[in-house]
Amino acid sequence: MKKLEEYVRSIPDFPEPGIIFRDVTSILQDADGLKLAIDSLQGLLEGLDFDVVVGTESRGFIFGVPVAYNLHKPFVPVRKKGKLPCETVEASYELEYGSAVIEMHRDSIKPGDRVVLVDDLIATGGTIEACARMVEGLGGEVVRMIFVMELAGLNGRDRLKKYDVASVIRYEGK
Ligand code: PRP
Ligand code: MG
Repeated sequence: MKKLEEYVRSIPDFPEPGIIFRDVTSILQDADGLKLAIDSLQGLLEGLDFDVVVGTESRGFIFGVPVAYNLHKPFVPVRKKGKLPCETVEASYELEYGSAVIEMHRDSIKPGDRVVLVDDLIATGGTIEACARMVEGLGGEVVRMIFVMELAGLNGRDRLKKYDVASVIRYEGK
């Protein structure tokens, strides 16, 4: 059986020189790759007691929903600002140039909820940290953060020291 790493297409010098882009679409477009990715991600939650899965737009949706569905948990989307119709909370995070704002519905997390955060990739950790701040602001507890891929060279784990962070594939570079 192929390992999940073998389904990831790596594109050198994209989007800029020196960066190796780890392409998640090459996992998704292979039925075995997709199944292995979801099963492996889900495996990172084995034995964990939790209430809700939170995934962040857009690639976090792809992986978060099947995991929530399989484990019969609710799924809460974190969206880019301006997309959600009801009362929201928001958080901002730094990008290479400027910053971004994300939101979630205020009623999506209840005080005391044990929350799992899901995304395809952890790079600097800025996106997921902003998600965690919102969840905590609503009284939820982030019990684990799970990722398909981790770019260890960008030190995302350093800023997430207080969290339980797990990934399926770890790349040592950036
Ligand atoms: C990518 C990726 C993660 C985030 C990781 O999302 O899907 O969400 O960046 O980077 P970080 O750890 O440095 O925050 P992107 O913002 O490119 O948007 P997308 O998911 O909509 O493609
Ligand atoms: Mg993303």
